[in-house]
Amino acid sequence: MNSVSQANGALLAAPDPQPEHELQRENPCFTNNGWDGKTYDIQAWLERAPWRTLRNTEYGYDPAQTANPVLWEDPLINEIYKLDIATFLTAEEVSVSGISKLVSQAPDEASRIFLATQTLDEARHYEIFCRRLADFGVAPAERNELISRVTTREMKEFYDLIREQANNGDYVGALVAHNIVLEGMAYPVYRYEIKYWSKLDPCLSRMIQSAFADEVRHVGFGEAFIANEIRRSPDVRNRVRALTHDCNRLMTSMFEAVIHKYIGLYQEAANAHMDLMGDIQIFPGMKMADVSEEDQVRQLLFEIQTEYKQRLAHIGLTDN
Ligand SMILES: [Fe+2]
Ligand SMILES: [Fe+2]
Repeated sequence: MNSVSQANGALLAAPDPQPEHELQRENPCFTNNGWDGKTYDIQAWLERAPWRTLRNTEYGYDPAQTANPVLWEDPLINEIYKLDIATFLTAEEVSVSGISKLVSQAPDEASRIFLATQTLDEARHYEIFCRRLADFGVAPAERNELISRVTTREMKEFYDLIREQANNGDYVGALVAHNIVLEGMAYPVYRYEIKYWSKLDPCLSRMIQSAFADEVRHVGFGEAFIANEIRRSPDVRNRVRALTHDCNRLMTSMFEAVIHKYIGLYQEAANAHMDLMGDIQIFPGMKMADVSEEDQVRQLLFEIQTEYKQRLAHIGLTDN
């Protein structure tokens, strides 16, 4: 007897727990083909995103924070701000349309459940950035023009390769392109953006952070699923190796073009506001006031390649 209480003069005893009456929470409730499905179910998603990262936010940011007036007053900053958000939207649009297709292609229940949460995440990312542009006076038609304007030839080639995977019904290829390459290698870019906008618009930084937290979860799922597929099949291993090579080539030329163009613009805009932005450390230990544009480009491209190698190591392709 592990507890005793007295009520109306009678002794009431709580029964000893019987093993057969315990909830067996360790038992899987979905088919999962051998990858770790439990940490990626809807319950885990609720606990990590709506109940934690997104708690007390509105469209992904803390409503108590406000943007610096410079965002409205300096035409160059204002222009870069909008082009930047439009660039995010190009990737989020590819994500929401591609991942929603994969929900119906998923080979096991646990993957399907996870991809349903990812679809909502990607739709939310798309929504918050559309909302932010609308907040700054950009109507939907103008937003779509901005998106076309920032879509470079290199970007289109890379996105076309990603789209092709899901359109051809190649589930593994699509997951590699979306959740390993596109999202995994964008980490350094997110980190750059979060820091760059931290003083001019902490709301945008918070929004990017909230999306970043989701992308980390998406990459975790992609790595767990693909590593398991690669372990099970040399054929999959070879296909994934070839696809990551192709994706990395296109993605690197896309980032090189974007980074060369944008870091120059970012630097030019920041130079007028160094009193506000000079102390920001985009790269640890390197204050923005002290780092040249060229060094920033080099550092960012180096980090993108480092991330690429880490992603491949996580899925078991160290000899790529
Ligand atoms: Fe996203
Ligand atoms: Fe994502």
